[in-house]
Amino acid sequence: MSWIREGELNLLERISANILKAGPIPKHIAIIMDGNRRYARKRHVERQEGHSQGFEKLAETLRWCLQLDIHEVTVYAFSIENFKRSKEEVDGLMELAKQKFERLLEEQEKLEKHGVCIRVLGDLSLLPLNLQEVIAKAVVATKTHNKCFLNVCFAYTSRHEIAGAVREMAWGVEQGLIKPSDVSEALLSQCLYSSHSPNPDLLIRTSGEVRLSDFLLWQTSYSCLVFQPVLWPEYSFWNLCEAILQYQLNHRSIQKAREHHSESQAILQLEADRSCVAEMLQHQHQRHGNGMPMDAASRQEAVCRYTASREERVRHFLSALQHKRDSFFSDLCSPAVVA
Ligand code: FPP
Ligand code: MG
Repeated sequence: MSWIREGELNLLERISANILKAGPIPKHIAIIMDGNRRYARKRHVERQEGHSQGFEKLAETLRWCLQLDIHEVTVYAFSIENFKRSKEEVDGLMELAKQKFERLLEEQEKLEKHGVCIRVLGDLSLLPLNLQEVIAKAVVATKTHNKCFLNVCFAYTSRHEIAGAVREMAWGVEQGLIKPSDVSEALLSQCLYSSHSPNPDLLIRTSGEVRLSDFLLWQTSYSCLVFQPVLWPEYSFWNLCEAILQYQLNHRSIQKAREHHSESQAILQLEADRSCVAEMLQHQHQRHGNGMPMDAASRQEAVCRYTASREERVRHFLSALQHKRDSFFSDLCSPAVVA
């Protein structure tokens, strides 16, 4: 079955969607699609059928999201922890993903029409090569689409992602692209797989479990978290409306907390730049003897120059990192070179 559903909402759903849309609508939602196996047991069907139904529900939910003007969705499709499940289940999930990404490649026209960009976030090197290749093709084929975004977290955990981001910054320092003092919260965010997305406004977990299970830990510090008892394959339009309503009820306090956080980040960055300049001046002073102490205006100017040079270094580093990541995908798409 297809990723892109083109059906309309029924009258009652349309009226409810319009009422919800009179309030703030999350721009980006994240979903932990949990409960596929319990659903399979409840319905006396094979476990794999539970996961297939889970995929169908994802496609249906994406359609509801579009109709509710939600243009970015991030889903937890396969955790690195899931590799610990039985070989049969892991192989089944890999096969399902392969089929669905192949199907996605056949739907290029629809994807283009709706401007859907698919990103896959995770450590793809942990996956079988044939799956890596089909994922890379899907990502490359849709990378210029920009109306709506689906981020599929696959072979993903948040701690693995954060550790990877720290490793990338260490690489940047090693290559002389950035200085250790350039490392900041903002830079780490830009080294995450999710660097191209705003943080989710709303995170939903189904199946009644009330934990994050290593999903988007960094990105959801200021998100509204909604835990719902329904099993993922049974998720309904009304469950989604309920989660959005929860977001709307908490919207003001979330906004306030976010604004407060970004203000304190700006102050911290300025402080960090000032202390780097102070340290540089101290070194100069020690090396070249006792020059005249700098007045406040010159010091301010030196901080501005330092900020500009740091920003330039960071830009250069991030474009090198992007190039490395793009090459990973494009190399997987090109036919193997035979020596
Ligand atoms: C959690 O339910 C679900 C998963 C581990 C797999 C989710 C995958 C899909 C919905 C298919 C998506 C596929 C693509 C290609 C995007 P569970 O297995 O933990 O069930 P349980 O909580 O009842 O044990
Ligand atoms: Mg589960």
